[in-house]
Amino acid sequence: MFIYLNRTGFNGLFRLNQRGEFNVPMGRYLNPTICDERNLRNAAAALQPANVALRTGEFDSILEIAAESDFVYLDPPYAPVSTTANFTSYTSAGFSDDDQRRLQKAVVGLAARGCHVVLSNSTAPLITELYATHSAARKVGLRVHKVAAKRAINSDPSRRGKIAEYVITNVPRAPAA
Ligand SMILES: C[S@@+](CC[C@H](N)C(=O)[O-])C[C@H]1O[C@@H](n2cnc3c(N)ncnc32)[C@H](O)[C@@H]1O
Repeated sequence: MFIYLNRTGFNGLFRLNQRGEFNVPMGRYLNPTICDERNLRNAAAALQPANVALRTGEFDSILEIAAESDFVYLDPPYAPVSTTANFTSYTSAGFSDDDQRRLQKAVVGLAARGCHVVLSNSTAPLITELYATHSAARKVGLRVHKVAAKRAINSDPSRRGKIAEYVITNVPRAPAA
């Protein structure tokens, strides 16, 4: 049912309302591929090995597992760049500025214990403050890179397309070839 909803809902979006119910409007697809058997079988095979585990939970309890030299990619709900761009509601609890601050502390902790961290987020002033100019973040080697990202989801169609986002990481850039 999840795949059916994901393939037929607006732009493949996943979103819950405050009651925890799926509330994505219908998408406009003429002939959506709902069961992509090859893709599903490849994903199933990739998840088979005994050393692969999928876990769900609050981010700080999940991140506790990460140890030195592990690679951690974090893709949290983005901080809103304006008061109208306030989509943070993947879950009924939303993701507040305090959650962004709590996440920053967890990310600084990961970098401090030697994990390789990559985090994506918006270029909202809060994120600049938490990572680009924050002394604890800089001290553990986190650096902020602005990248142009292609985005299909925006309530204003003229703002779909390439927008600036942050990639925040303690992984050094490869030297130019
Ligand atoms: C930008 S989406 C990630 C999308 C994912 N990378 C993908 O490609 O499908 C942000 C995710 O953070 C999850 N999330 C929201 N609050 C969270 C929390 N407090 N702890 C852990 N995950 C949370 C949401 O459920 C959502 O799946």
